[in-house]
Amino acid sequence: MKALITAGGHGTRLRPITHTQNKHLIPIANKLMLDYALEYVRDANINDVGIIINADDNSIKSEFGDGSSRNIKITYIPQDAPLGLAHVVKISEKFIGSDPFIFYLGDNILVGGINKFVSEFKNAGSNCHLALSKVPDPNRFGVAEIKDDKIIGIEEKPANPKSNFAVTGIYLYDSTIFEAVNNIKPSARGELEISDAHQYLLNKGYHISYSEITGWWKDTGKPSDLLEANRLVLDNIKDNREAILTDCEVTGNIHLGKNVKISNSKLDGPIIINDDSIIDKAHIAPYTAIGKRCTIINSKVGYSIIMSDSKISNVEDKITNSLIGIDVQIIGNHREHSAHRFILGDQSRVEID
Ligand code: DAU
Repeated sequence: MKALITAGGHGTRLRPITHTQNKHLIPIANKLMLDYALEYVRDANINDVGIIINADDNSIKSEFGDGSSRNIKITYIPQDAPLGLAHVVKISEKFIGSDPFIFYLGDNILVGGINKFVSEFKNAGSNCHLALSKVPDPNRFGVAEIKDDKIIGIEEKPANPKSNFAVTGIYLYDSTIFEAVNNIKPSARGELEISDAHQYLLNKGYHISYSEITGWWKDTGKPSDLLEANRLVLDNIKDNREAILTDCEVTGNIHLGKNVKISNSKLDGPIIINDDSIIDKAHIAPYTAIGKRCTIINSKVGYSIIMSDSKISNVEDKITNSLIGIDVQIIGNHREHSAHRFILGDQSRVEID
């Protein structure tokens, strides 16, 4: 079995962060989003992975190389433009050959990995196996219509969904999917839709089986999704304090990297702080992930992702629900405000008067 993982697309809903970095390289609890997908695939004993990248983007290749640092074999498949998920499958036919494969959207994060779906696909002996999840807002997703425990229809982002079962970004296929992606036409928005490929399989009488994801699953399209994913991973973080803590008050689990220095601060876990960061006279509230070489001085931060090399100092009011890119500086002067919420791209500078 092979795996195909997406790391292309525009990431428009995560701008400005995605103006300067690929969304799949955003850290969640200080681990790159794509590393979660690679870990799930490796845990399912799949070693041969194709990663779809935008043809003009070298960042994924530079980070993951040939995969040896992750004990997996990676082949890169460049896509000239994000022409849809069925287009992704279409251009991967040569890499996949006649093997069955898992198609995993690199911006989906779930608890518990993918082993269950792989074995249910094998047991079902179907042409296509979908992982479904009940959601409150099915119109954001591909939606499955189910009758007598069978999928009878699939629509992409329907205005009037026929169920609340979202088709998640975890799909298992045999090679009949190539017949589907080679026969469908682009949708009104100009993309070859994966939901149309699934509907093609149903129309032709091929067998689509499914599993329901009952645990946590998230398509990390928006900043709030990333923060929720971060919270979920941090909820299970192990305590590790090999750092210098001077005059600090700590509650809950805190995971500190190498050469982290923390003084005169209050830390309420779960929190993760990466190597070489400095925290002084600060309050770090729960569900905060701080990247490498950050400095937080005289400020309060909580429920946020702060990427590497950023500096926050003298910000009187709490920074919360925030996604802060690489090498950002937020410098305050201690005047009172009620609260601040930031979505800041790499190299942003914010001055609060
Ligand atoms: O997450 C589940 C949903 O994913 C499904 O319910 C939908 O049926 C499916 O169409 C898809 O919808 P999204 O709107 O979330 O897809 P998005 O454009 O965000 O792309 C998903 C992933 O695929 C992401 O890793 C970016 C990548 N991508 C996307 C396109 C369209 C590519 O690499 N190339 C592409 O052409």
